[in-house]
Amino acid sequence: MKHFLQFTDLTVDELAYVFTRASVIKRKFKAYEKHHTLADRTLAMIFEKASTRTRVSFEAGMYQMGGAVVHLTTGDSQLGRAEPIEDSAKVISRMVDLVMIRTFGQDKINSFAANSRVPVINGLTNEFHPCQILADLFTFIEHRGDTQHPLQCLHGKVVAWVGDGNNMANTWLQAADMLGFTVHLSTPSGYEVDPTIAGLRSPDSYKVFKDPMQACAGADLVTTDVWTSMGYESENAVRQEAFADWCVDSDMMAQAKSNALFMHCLPAHRGEEVAADVIDGPQSVVWDEAENRMHVQKALMEYLLLGKQ
Ligand code: CP
Repeated sequence: MKHFLQFTDLTVDELAYVFTRASVIKRKFKAYEKHHTLADRTLAMIFEKASTRTRVSFEAGMYQMGGAVVHLTTGDSQLGRAEPIEDSAKVISRMVDLVMIRTFGQDKINSFAANSRVPVINGLTNEFHPCQILADLFTFIEHRGDTQHPLQCLHGKVVAWVGDGNNMANTWLQAADMLGFTVHLSTPSGYEVDPTIAGLRSPDSYKVFKDPMQACAGADLVTTDVWTSMGYESENAVRQEAFADWCVDSDMMAQAKSNALFMHCLPAHRGEEVAADVIDGPQSVVWDEAENRMHVQKALMEYLLLGKQ
């Protein structure tokens, strides 16, 4: 049994398979062809934080594969009334085939997985957001590569991360370390990425820049996220001040390669971490990126339950 708790839980070969399979599944979806490989399977989705994309993409994806979903939140289950996570895992995993969790600390999802009889998928923790990075890489491959040889186009590329040293940044570092590209990190002082969280094999997969303009120089992809992630709302006023120079605008995009893409995992705050003319401009692929959550997660769920098809 395999879990997907962080990006490194899949091997390079498995990642390549998931990307190629996602393109097959997406093509069938666009052609209204049935793809009921998960008929009679049930996914439990546990949300301890809010979501739009993660909920819709997992729920719609599971129905499209012939399966069913159970949706639980902290407020409407015993999870919010201090039932131990280990007990919840033992019970829920006797009744469903697969579990997706969005929660706070990675330790919590690790405890759930350690007590689960079925595969567990990380739908975002404070430390990692691996499903989002799957979607981001798949989107890059669709725009700049070949889904039959999905990893080739990533080698040697530069991804500029501008903003908070958060769960997305940690997961980008894991992906770069595995797949042979470099992340240029630029964060305000006090909000740096801690590379020990990613557990990198090599320090060569990232470079740190004080100036976000320099981080974007020569980049193939510029990406960012909100200044205040879920769970850090009490820091919002302080963060607004600290992050003021980390707005991805057209001057920053002009530093990147002329064919550079812009991505944002959404939801976005125009005028804060990204200027409206960038996110709504010609280099932005954020709507493909959001849609691709569903296609890569369908491939991931199918792989975790059935293996290679
Ligand atoms: N990007 C992302 O995870 O979106 P939601 O918070 O809406 O699920």
